[in-house]
Amino acid sequence: MNNDAMIEYWNGAAGQKWVDQSDRLDAMLGQFADGVLDAAAIQTGERALDIGCGAGVLTLGATAQSGGSIGSLGVDVSTPLLALARKRAAEAESPATFEHGDASVYTADDKLDLMISRFGVMFFDDPAAAFANIRAQIRTGGRMAFMCWQALPLNDWAFAPFQAALPLLREAPPSPDPTAPGPFAFADKDRVAGILTEAGWQNSSIEPFETEITLPGDDVETSARFMLQLGPLSRLIAEQDLDPQTILNAVIDKLSEHAETDGRIKMKSACWLVQANA
Ligand SMILES: C[S@@+](CC[C@H](N)C(=O)[O-])C[C@H]1O[C@@H](n2cnc3c(N)ncnc32)[C@H](O)[C@@H]1O
Repeated sequence: MNNDAMIEYWNGAAGQKWVDQSDRLDAMLGQFADGVLDAAAIQTGERALDIGCGAGVLTLGATAQSGGSIGSLGVDVSTPLLALARKRAAEAESPATFEHGDASVYTADDKLDLMISRFGVMFFDDPAAAFANIRAQIRTGGRMAFMCWQALPLNDWAFAPFQAALPLLREAPPSPDPTAPGPFAFADKDRVAGILTEAGWQNSSIEPFETEITLPGDDVETSARFMLQLGPLSRLIAEQDLDPQTILNAVIDKLSEHAETDGRIKMKSACWLVQANA
């Protein structure tokens, strides 16, 4: 199993951008942390293992849900995001802890009650082996609840900026392998069910969690700039030596179609809420 490319990615510019934009990202993605915590229904004294915890919002939420005296544990490969997670825990005087580790091989000192994640489990080279290792960290009778994205075209908030830029690219980007590690690698629910079964998880349920996302920014241009910075477009602009302003204008035009009367952009999103027993 080799997750080196993703580990490098999350320790490079991508990890730093997630740190820089963490407050906006957490505002944008808050409902998905709430969705995981509602499903997880963490009981007093339970400890959760948050896979791909990033800047730690879900780990902190899990710790609060379990009563706030026993810390849940966040594991991530990204040094800059973990630094922010630890800072947030210290500021909140939370006992949540954070460890640097590749979740596909990470071993916890003690077994935990459940595994949770918000968009942190789609980056494994060998997902079945990774999920088997994660299951081994959870006590017998324990459980999991995580959120992952459905297919890109069902997620208007991510797809629309990409569509706006497509006609302006010098060459069409290669069709991605839908199972390659990345945000949309778990789009196929049958594949996810197969991965969990192969990894030994039982009674899996994979339910749609479909809502609207409000993009960060009080106006269309701010939202468009945000999507250009964090989405796949920034890489395409660099790779194909495109004029960023031209792409930005196209994205602004496209997002304007979704502007509310207050100027904010609200768009469709589609996730899977995945649950199973260890
Ligand atoms: C899309 S971000 C989500 C972060 C966080 N869960 C949140 O919702 O804000 C994906 C996270 O998965 C982490 N990640 C990727 N591969 C990983 C691996 N093999 N083991 C642990 N974490 C990983 C990344 O470093 C990144 O923090």
